[in-house]
Order: sequence, then C-alpha cells, then structure tokens
Amino acid sequence: MKRILVTGGAGFIGANFVHHMIAHSDAEITVLDKMSYAANRASLEGLDPKRFTLVQGDICDYVLVNELVPQHDAVIHFAAETHNDNSLHDPRIFLKSNVMGTFELLEAVRHHEVRLHHISTDEVYGDLELDDPQRFTETTPYQPSSPYSASKASSDLLVKAWVRSFGIEATLSNCSNNYGPFQHVEKFIPRQITSILSGLPPKLYGNGANVRDWIHASDHSSAVQRILEAGERGRTYLIGADGERSNREVLGLILELMGRDADDFEWVADRAGHDLRYAIDATVLREELGWRPQYTDLERGLGATIDWYRQHRSWWEPAKARTEERYRRQLSGEEARMAS
Ligand code: NAD
Ligand code: DAU
Repeated sequence: MKRILVTGGAGFIGANFVHHMIAHSDAEITVLDKMSYAANRASLEGLDPKRFTLVQGDICDYVLVNELVPQHDAVIHFAAETHNDNSLHDPRIFLKSNVMGTFELLEAVRHHEVRLHHISTDEVYGDLELDDPQRFTETTPYQPSSPYSASKASSDLLVKAWVRSFGIEATLSNCSNNYGPFQHVEKFIPRQITSILSGLPPKLYGNGANVRDWIHASDHSSAVQRILEAGERGRTYLIGADGERSNREVLGLILELMGRDADDFEWVADRAGHDLRYAIDATVLREELGWRPQYTDLERGLGATIDWYRQHRSWWEPAKARTEERYRRQLSGEEARMAS
C-alpha cells in the first residue's frame, strides 16, 4: 500500500496518523482536508515533501474526490465534524460532512475500486451505566445519543451497506477517546491544560462522574496501521487501551501534574444528553491482529501531553480565546433555554 489518501489529516488524529505512517512505513501520503477551524497546518510542518502533499478541499466535492481517489491505493477516512458540544448547537454541518462526505467517498472508492478504511467512534454505541460489567464489542447495537454520534453512526451504516451491496474493499474501526499532541483546545484534556497555562479555571461538566476510556493518539494510529495490514474486508474493529477514568479523576491528575490544588476548577452546567460512560473491549484487535498499545500508563501519557502544550504555545494560543468565547456563547444560550 504505497499511496494513501488521508482525509481530515490536518486535524488531531489524522495528523498523528500521518506522522506515524511517515515514521513507520514507506507510504506516500496525500492529505485532503478542508482546513476547518479544527485543522492546523502547523501540525503537518516539517514532513518530507517527496512523501507528503496537502490538498485543501472538501470531501463533499464530487469532482475533487473523484480526481484524487483513483491516484491512491487506499483512502483512510478521518475527516469529520467531531465536537459533541458544537453538534448540539449547530448540527447541520455534522450531517453534511459526516454523512454526505462519507457518501461521496464511498461512491468514489466503489467506482475506482480503491480500498477504504473508515474511522469511527465508540459513541455510536450510546453509553453504559457506571457499574455495568459489559464493555462495547463489535456486536453491541447502535444507539447514538447526540447529533454528532448519530451522524457517525449513519456514516458507519453507509460503509457497511456499500460493503454488502457493492462489495467495496472496506474496513471500519470504532475507537474510544483520544488524547495527545495536536488536539484542538475545545476538547476536554487540552482545554483544561491550556486554561491552566492561560490563568483560566478548568471547567467540569455536571458532577464530573462521566467516564471516558482514554487512549493515546499514537496507539490509535498503530491500531489503524495494523488493520490496514491485516484487517478483513467488511469487518469492524474496536480500538481501546483499557483507560477508563472519570472526568473528575482526569482533571485531578492534570491539576496534580501541573502543581495546582485539587479543587482549583469550576463546576459548569452539564452537556445536554451527556453520555455517562464509554468502555471498549479490544480483545478482537489484540487477539486476532496482535495489536498492543504502548501508552498503558495514563499519568505518564498526560504528563507528556502537558509538556507538549507547554512547549507549543504558538500552536494553540491563536485558537484559545476564540474557543472560550464560543463556549461562553453556548453556555449563555443554554442558560436562556433552561430559564424559558
Ligand atoms: P478533528 O476535529 O481534530 O479533525 C477533523 C479534521 O477533519 C479537521 O482537520 C477538519 O478540517 C477536517 N474536515 C472536517 N470536515 C471536512 C470536510 N467536509 N472535508 C474535508 N475535511 C474536513 O477530529 P479528530 O478528533 O482528529 O477526529 C478524527 C476522526 O476520528 C473523526 O472521524 C472522529 O469521528 C474520529 N474519532 C475521534 C475520537 C477522538 O477522541 N477525538 C475518537 C474516536 C474516533
Ligand atoms: O469517544 C470518542 C469521542 O470522544 C469522539 O468520537 C469525539 O470526536 C471526541 O470529541 C470525544 O467525545 P467526548 O464528548 O467524550 O469528548 P470531549 O473532549 O468533548 O469531552 C470529554 C468529557 O469531558 C465529556 O464527558 C464532557 C467532559 N467535559 C468536556 C469539556 C470540553 C468537561 O467536563 N468539561 C469540558 O470543558
């Protein structure tokens, strides 16, 4: 697999994947990214131009997609609108990019007979009770809660239908919450780290008991590479690294690692429809494909991530004020809605 088209490669996980593949394969990579607010050119700086090209464009652009797809041996599809809070306030773009964009790619890989790997999320399975001994598996029924997760569930179902009806060469993966370098400051972990670095209080939704199953983005990348090498056509693989923690625990670790008091944060109104707990059982990936995560100690991974944000202020500072302003507007809209 020499020539790879990575959609959404200027976003968080896509950029980590591009760096991973440049370091751990001989692939030549084209990134197709529309450079939304979530993208950052600086995440792709320094890559060898003989092996890497960035094309700014939309996956909904039929002409562009049909020009690029046949020039590649595989498409790895990360591009999406990804933030739950935004999807609650302005869902339209989520359906456009996540559903219609995936449809355009599916039609292109079908007509040009190109392999596709579709990147998805554990949120398609809904949520679990805190004390539920079950975790999500490849056979858990879909039950998405938010406009974002419903749009991702829709895109997964389209991929499965294109495999069954048209025989396209596709695999899927559903991963848990990622953290690491290049993550936008709107997301939980970078928001808290960059708030502390900016002298702002971290913000915890609801009662802080919601659980997420954290995995380092470089482990997500190695899992996707393994699926590209050995995954079976039409199969879904769940990716997770046994990293369950409550939001309160994660924030506690960040505060401790950054030398702050344990209560040095603010409680804020909960997210509407907030999923309680996600948890992935990655047995299939581990046992059938022999994949193992490298970051098994969340505290160590968080420490390295905090160092990265300390050392890359110019990467995140331009987006910080804009993002906090967006949160302020969303929160005041939410308060007005609850008061009426
Ligand atoms: P991100 O928001 O950081 O990046 C998304 C990228 O997609 C951005 O660069 C954006 O410009 C691009 N994009 C959006 N719409 C586009 C369009 N119409 N055409 C071209 N490019 C477009 O997201 P992320 O966190 O890196 O997530 C990447 C993928 O991984 C998504 O499909 C997401 O659902 C999935 N995922 C994310 C997580 C997580 O914890 N962040 C976990 C599991 C799965
Ligand atoms: O599970 C995979 C999903 O993880 C991906 O599909 C999504 O693209 C990705 O954004 C992420 O979704 P979450 O909604 O879990 O991530 P987020 O970073 O927005 O929030 C993580 C948890 O932290 C969630 O329970 C809400 C809470 N939170 C978030 C923010 C931004 C806070 O308590 N305070 C905050 O300021």
